[in-house]
Amino acid sequence: MSYLTTMFLGLVLISNMNPQKNTPIKKEPFGKAGDQPVEMYTLTNANAVEVKIITYGARVASLTAPDRNGKLADVVLGCETVDCYINDPYFGAIVGRYANRIGKGRFWLNGKEYTLPKNDGENTLHGGIRNFSRVVWTATEVKSSGGVALSLSYLSKDGEEGFPGTLSATVLYTLTDKNELRIDYTATTDKTTVVNLSGHSYFNLAGEGSILNHVMTINAGRFTPVDSGLIPTGELRSVKGTPMDFTTPTRIGARIDDPYEQLVLGKGYDHNWVLDGGGGKLAVAARVSEPTTGRVLEVYTAEPGIQFYTGNFLDGSIKGKGGQVYQKRFGFCLETQHFPDSPNKPSFPSTVLQPGKTYKTTTVYKFSAT
Ligand code: GAL
Repeated sequence: MSYLTTMFLGLVLISNMNPQKNTPIKKEPFGKAGDQPVEMYTLTNANAVEVKIITYGARVASLTAPDRNGKLADVVLGCETVDCYINDPYFGAIVGRYANRIGKGRFWLNGKEYTLPKNDGENTLHGGIRNFSRVVWTATEVKSSGGVALSLSYLSKDGEEGFPGTLSATVLYTLTDKNELRIDYTATTDKTTVVNLSGHSYFNLAGEGSILNHVMTINAGRFTPVDSGLIPTGELRSVKGTPMDFTTPTRIGARIDDPYEQLVLGKGYDHNWVLDGGGGKLAVAARVSEPTTGRVLEVYTAEPGIQFYTGNFLDGSIKGKGGQVYQKRFGFCLETQHFPDSPNKPSFPSTVLQPGKTYKTTTVYKFSAT
């Protein structure tokens, strides 16, 4: 074989090993939030799995996964327009600065009280009114050996929604050829603050309908019970003998309407589970399978907690993608996180971020089929 032929064959081999080269990230306009343009980016992997990310709220707008016959379906809830996302229940959004609730919309840090806008009764939910899901992020395409990647960043000013410190937040989405969506979060601050970022995708592995037949496992022996405003009481309670026990695979709908006080308060599952965890390393927090399609979702995190929410507040008022009407319990969220209301609960793992330190956390959503 001549030198040139060898070189040519080598190049062909390399380009076949790297099929994403053939599918560059697609960028298209997705309307406007006020006068700010919103873009949609489509990331495609070697298996034709696609993730669509919009810059409004750095949201996952669509995510396909193969069933046991290789058939792809969109497995996340979402909207077709920015206007729909503006008033939505956080479909696919990055929530922050503080995911989930801060009780009574206030907390103390270094002897000073900070007050936040209350957007959930007496409490602050997902970082306040103009939280990270309701702002336009700046997207940058990134070269990554791990897969096809898009980075989004947002600079939250000192005092924004009541929080101290200018927070520079970045979310890196990577779609791998192993059908994983990896989310790497980082943030830095110029003043001591609190931070807790999470992803708020509503999954439905069947692609439509109720999620009650999905089978759930959560690797957690305890959860944090809540009061009537869904604020943790501070207790870490064993799941043993309760409908909160998902340590073995259990149908989501099996016990969801049991007269257990915590399920009555949450109108279903809407709680933080205390993960058994991998000692600070990425570990499987939850595994969900859908019997009719065989689709499986595994969630990896090194965070201490995960919010399992069964879409109890969905009420059919939103017309979503393809005209789908999302009724109660048509989607579930698995939000990796520090525990809700940690800034007011000294016994919970701390969410304080100091200047000069970098907040870092990673979530992997891995799809497969059985
Ligand atoms: C979840 C939260 C629910 C509900 C939902 C948004 O993260 O746990 O209580 O507020 O967000 O509708």
